Amino acid sequence: MTTVASPYERWHRHFQGHGDASLALPWQDSYRLTDSERKSAGRSIQQFQLGEWARGRGLKRRALGQGELAADPWFVPALELFIKEEQGHSAMLGRFLDQQGIPRLEAHWVDGIFRRLRKLAGLEVCAAVLVTAEVLAVPFYQALKDATRSPLLRAICSRILVDEAAHLNYQGLTLGLIRRPLTDRSRVLHGFWHRALFHGTALLLWQQHRAVFRAAGWSFFRYWSEAQRWFAILEMKIRNSSAAFRVLCQRTMDQ
Ligand SMILES: [Fe+2]
Ligand SMILES: [Fe+2]
Repeated sequence: MTTVASPYERWHRHFQGHGDASLALPWQDSYRLTDSERKSAGRSIQQFQLGEWARGRGLKRRALGQGELAADPWFVPALELFIKEEQGHSAMLGRFLDQQGIPRLEAHWVDGIFRRLRKLAGLEVCAAVLVTAEVLAVPFYQALKDATRSPLLRAICSRILVDEAAHLNYQGLTLGLIRRPLTDRSRVLHGFWHRALFHGTALLLWQQHRAVFRAAGWSFFRYWSEAQRWFAILEMKIRNSSAAFRVLCQRTMDQ
């Protein structure tokens, strides 16, 4: 009998190895955000704290209905640890807001739109919406880090950036597997609408958070180039994930 090695087993080990990353952060730091830092970044940190919470529940439900993902015994355990890591990001930002005396948001219309979109969508759109947010989180946290002198907030951004870079690989794998059964033509079409979704979301993110980018000295052009660069990396990961999985299956079958 031949068994196909699960790419999610490696991801399960990866997430498990992270443990509680917040323990290493300098929570005793007494720096208070200046008025201009609060003005430029306070609202954005509130929004991201809300957005990072509980991502992936819809993806899990839908993935359990997709043959290949549901059949992989490591998919759900890895996904649960991934969701926990995202919730950890929200918890770090929440604790930072609490320390600064900035209230947490209970709801925001942007967050509401994306949550509703994920609820209405099928598996692929749900995964695409999530990963689009992951891609755009990278330039945002890079800029937020540059926009503040708070050692704690800078350390939180660094930690999240390390995690998010890995999340792109993880999500690229999942989207690649979801798109694997598609014909080449359909894959091109799906890539086209995903790029359209990405561009729309990138413009919305700039409109909502440009004060952070401005405070960090970023122009729109720099933001746009950086966002495009990360999206191109994601597209490559998606393409490679289907191909790599085919090779892995073939090798395992040949053994
Ligand atoms: Fe995150
Ligand atoms: Fe993430």
